[in-house]
Amino acid sequence: MLNDQSWRNLSQAALSRKDSSIQDLFEAGGRAARFSARLPYRDDNINSEMLFDFSKTLIDDEVMALLLRMAEESGLAARRDAMFTGARINETEGRAVLHTMLRGTPDPTLPKADIAAMEATRSRMAALCEAVRSGAYSGPGGRFTDIINIGIGGSDLGPAMASIALSPFRTGPRTHYLSNVDPAHANWILSEMNPARTLVLIASKTFTTSETMANARIVRNWLLTAVADPAAQMVAISSAADKAGEWGIPPERVFGFGDYIGGRYSVWGPVGLSLMLAVGPERFNQFLAGAAHMDHHFRTTPFAQNLPVLLALSGVWHAQGCGYPTRAVLPYDQRLGRLPAYLQQLEMESNGKRVAMDGSDLPCDSGPVVWGEPGTNGQHAFYQLIHQGTRVIPCEFLVAARGCYPEQQAQHRQLIANCLAQAKALMAGRSLDEARARMAAAGLTGAELERQARHRVFPGNRPSVMLAYHRLTPFTLGMILALYEHRVFVEGVLLGINSFDQWGVELGKELALTLEPMLSGDTRDDGIDGSTQQLVRFMRSESAE
Ligand code: F6P
Repeated sequence: MLNDQSWRNLSQAALSRKDSSIQDLFEAGGRAARFSARLPYRDDNINSEMLFDFSKTLIDDEVMALLLRMAEESGLAARRDAMFTGARINETEGRAVLHTMLRGTPDPTLPKADIAAMEATRSRMAALCEAVRSGAYSGPGGRFTDIINIGIGGSDLGPAMASIALSPFRTGPRTHYLSNVDPAHANWILSEMNPARTLVLIASKTFTTSETMANARIVRNWLLTAVADPAAQMVAISSAADKAGEWGIPPERVFGFGDYIGGRYSVWGPVGLSLMLAVGPERFNQFLAGAAHMDHHFRTTPFAQNLPVLLALSGVWHAQGCGYPTRAVLPYDQRLGRLPAYLQQLEMESNGKRVAMDGSDLPCDSGPVVWGEPGTNGQHAFYQLIHQGTRVIPCEFLVAARGCYPEQQAQHRQLIANCLAQAKALMAGRSLDEARARMAAAGLTGAELERQARHRVFPGNRPSVMLAYHRLTPFTLGMILALYEHRVFVEGVLLGINSFDQWGVELGKELALTLEPMLSGDTRDDGIDGSTQQLVRFMRSESAE
């Protein structure tokens, strides 16, 4: 674990650069190449590269050396190898962390039985897909046209995000994702579908999550309106085969996974079944292969050229060094529209911790608030604050060189131009003199010119990083998600925390269980704080028939 002095050194380095200019750093020449890294890959018979450019930040040679030293001193290499080889690095739950095993290139030292079980499950998933897609397994109304995945958190966000991202590759049924316990969500989704032609996946590692079980009951009742045997068109994605059995789902339609696959890291296995059904096993395997490619890069490349390490170090520099409390993820790729939501769970559930692995208080801030929206939409909403607000928000842009629609590549260039322009504008800004010149050109003079000019100043010097790739495909998506997983891991190792537990979600869940009977009037509401009691009583009286 890093000592407090390392964090003080990092903060000191940030403080001493607070008046430095990012633009000035480019004067030395060669900065863009030195403060970026590339990862070659081959996808769909095309040789491409992924480019990570972090030159538009205040990271200079000295800061880079400091960050790389911190990575070395944190024991990152040993920790990384411990993860890939199945050590129980999730220490608060006594579990290994082996989502990387699902990507088809497991470490040869891992138990053969675990590898065989994982491969057998993937073969069963592929067989189910073939049966659904061919119509051999169908509903009473005919071939399944729609899939509903009922799950929440890690049992929802990964496949929901990926099925949008890979929608141009869909060759199977339509997919829908039901997560919120608000019955509005179920009703909204179900209103569009035919129960006799819908396959229902209940995705819950534990098969106890209250939201998922409540939604599963709604959906079962909905199926009952049109079919005699709802369980015949239900699949369970769960480690709790016995509980799935209680729903009448037979073992051949239960797809389990070990406790070494965390919810937010689970899209690569059975939780990805809806995605596999949509794009087919071959495309799903390409998704896994892209992630495996990133795994290999992460395991074998020196830190100074290692994309996940560099992405993490840029994150640590901004969050813990400079003290910026948030970071925006801005995909210039509409199909990555749900990536920020996916990353919110991946990053904030993993690294939103205030206690280090050994139980001591963190000597620095925890992981930042992650948020974002696709460009160009965000430009017409919150970019105002990013450019001219008083707080600095480091931005992470993602953009593909090619769109999915060759005939619209010219419009795709418009998208790229916007992305590059935003990053440049954040760095360069617009000075008061430039703003004055503009106002003068518009005919203003004197005090009015001065007043108007001030509103048009962009302070600039706002940091951003850019991830660029050839085209969003199953392989590239796999690379991107594995890149972010490993970035979260690296940041967690530097912070000295356990990125794989999530105790912070427990308290609210427990309290909800005690409040529900108070809301229905089944238990007394005394003994709770005055504000919650007032709200419980308000809800009771307002909801009375
Ligand atoms: O929100 C906590 C959490 O445990 C997540 O980590 C997990 O992805 C989600 O709930 C769903 O859990 P399950 O798959 O067991 O229903």
